[in-house]
Amino acid sequence: MRKTIIVSNRLPVKITENDGEFTLQPSEGGLATGLGAIYREGNNIWIGWPGQEITDPATQEKIAKQFKQLNLMPVYLTQDEINNFYEGFSNETLWPVFHYMSVYARYEQTYWDAYYQVNQKFRDIILKVAEPDDIIWVHDYQLLLLPGMLRAALPEISIGFFQHIPFPSYELFRLIPWRAEILEGMLGSDLMGFHTFDDTRHFLNAVSRVLPVNTTANVVSYNDRAVVVETFPMGIDYGKFSSLGNDPEVLEQVQSLKENFKEDRLILSIDRLDYSKGIRQRLQAFELLLQLHPEYIGKIVLYMIVVPSRDTVPQYKELRDEIDKQVGNINARFRTLSWHPIQYFYRSFPVSTLSALYNFSDICLVTPMRDGMNLVSKEYVASRNNNDGVLILSEMAGASKELSDALIVNPNNLGAIIRAIVDALNMPLPEQQRRMKPMRQVVSKFNVHHWVKLFMTRLKEVNEMQQNMLAR
Ligand code: G6P
Repeated sequence: MRKTIIVSNRLPVKITENDGEFTLQPSEGGLATGLGAIYREGNNIWIGWPGQEITDPATQEKIAKQFKQLNLMPVYLTQDEINNFYEGFSNETLWPVFHYMSVYARYEQTYWDAYYQVNQKFRDIILKVAEPDDIIWVHDYQLLLLPGMLRAALPEISIGFFQHIPFPSYELFRLIPWRAEILEGMLGSDLMGFHTFDDTRHFLNAVSRVLPVNTTANVVSYNDRAVVVETFPMGIDYGKFSSLGNDPEVLEQVQSLKENFKEDRLILSIDRLDYSKGIRQRLQAFELLLQLHPEYIGKIVLYMIVVPSRDTVPQYKELRDEIDKQVGNINARFRTLSWHPIQYFYRSFPVSTLSALYNFSDICLVTPMRDGMNLVSKEYVASRNNNDGVLILSEMAGASKELSDALIVNPNNLGAIIRAIVDALNMPLPEQQRRMKPMRQVVSKFNVHHWVKLFMTRLKEVNEMQQNMLAR
């Protein structure tokens, strides 16, 4: 029977180790939820890295057996591969360039070699289970070479690729010494998806500058094959976030937030630790706000959650130290005996706590310097069942194209962020509702299940179109 193989760098599981014993828990991430309906079915499978270094062959085999019951298949990475493929080429070369922070990028031959070899490692594991009429859906920037490698081995197989981070303008992309190899790898797919029209346009532009291709609208002809490139903005599980608002555990947490913060107005900020998220600039804006508007001292609180991430990569370590310092300075400068301007947490929280915070906060402040989509902004909107609350959103986040009723700001413009916060604090309820309602309709309709369905349907259509072309 025809099966679907999902491939991403990380598997949708959390592994916890206790005295050498590993337990697996399916993760609650957005992609995992969206693809859950697919990979759990029949003999479909999700292939990826379990996120832990496991070297002992007996343990590897034992875990693989547990994974099999969940329709998952592990790709084990060695410490060297973690250093050079994951931390190296993926997160010190591609990530900064694709997020327009090219000063952070390192172009190391050893990183590239590891990237190539790990993409091959994924290919070899996939080839053990793939049949020529299967569908393979590859995800994200860690695996850009994989579609090309799979195509070479299985010319007829159906391959979709989706990029979850931005695709930069050609002027940035061209900086990468291995730009042609990367584009060739991506073009192994039949259908490629990006979050925004700009990402799609940037990809089409890069391809036509670097490779001898023919491009007509959104179809790239290369090596006698037609590759379709389209925009599929990813959604969230709207139903989950909307209904969590009525969950007794969440309501209890909202109540304790109310008791804790009384009259204080809460500004919520939630990100993974990353320089692309604009956390330092956001803190600067908040500090300036308190300086320029002392009337808010003692009345507003920035509730800031930073989820640990990639903390073995030097820039992330530095960023963490800088945030610690900045938060310490602001709290020391403005605090009173009974009030702290910033409540800062460097850890992750269960979804029930996030839901309580989304429900309780007057404002959600999302100001990345660059973001493929940004799902936090959509989770906030989905959680606001009363249609109140204000979303302040960076124009550099993919989500700003859909959530145009948010207060849209340039994250480098501290004055604009401050004005947006003051406007949000003073926004009358009818205007909050006028803005929130249409955003909720968008997030509800274009949810993650819709996104998966749209991509898979389109992939089948593209394959039919290719077959008709061949038959002619
Ligand atoms: C972004 C990327 C994902 C990645 C996630 C977490 O959302 O698009 O591919 O999995 O960040 O990063 P990590 O390095 O921890 O996998």
